[in-house]
Amino acid sequence: MIERSFVMIKPDGVRRGLTGECIRRFEQRGLKVVELKMLTAGRALAENHYGVHRGKPFFESVVDFISSGPVVAMVIEGESAIAAIRQIVGATRPLEAAPGSIRGDFALEVGENIVHASDGVETATQEIALWFGQG
Ligand code: RTP
Ligand code: MG
Repeated sequence: MIERSFVMIKPDGVRRGLTGECIRRFEQRGLKVVELKMLTAGRALAENHYGVHRGKPFFESVVDFISSGPVVAMVIEGESAIAAIRQIVGATRPLEAAPGSIRGDFALEVGENIVHASDGVETATQEIALWFGQG
């Protein structure tokens, strides 16, 4: 099934110059970037994006972090894109992420794990609408 996922290079990934490396890995796998923009998220957008985590102990810090600097927001399309991208990105906690995944290769801390990727078809639809509008 051809799917679309919302993928974002987080402020740490942009700051460290890993945007190109991440995109290269997605493209190399056969996935296609169909939308792309750089922006700094305001607090409302950041809170909305991580709304599912509201009330959790890390909510404030993840919202602060994601709105702390420029991010690169993308829509990426391809066969089984959502699962394929989560595999390329690796587990949330970098020490549990497989070597060869982005987080397994470039991250050590859960709070600075370089990239976000939608975790399901419904989430992807919501996140694409939130970051790129319905159009
Ligand atoms: P993301 O949404 O950013 O792609 O990451 P994910 O699906 O792998 O992980 P998720 O459970 O959605 O968590 C969102 C982000 O919140 C931060 N977090 N911190 N301190 C903690 O225990 C903790 N747990 C999650 C991470 O930055 C995670 O990417
Ligand atoms: Mg998530």
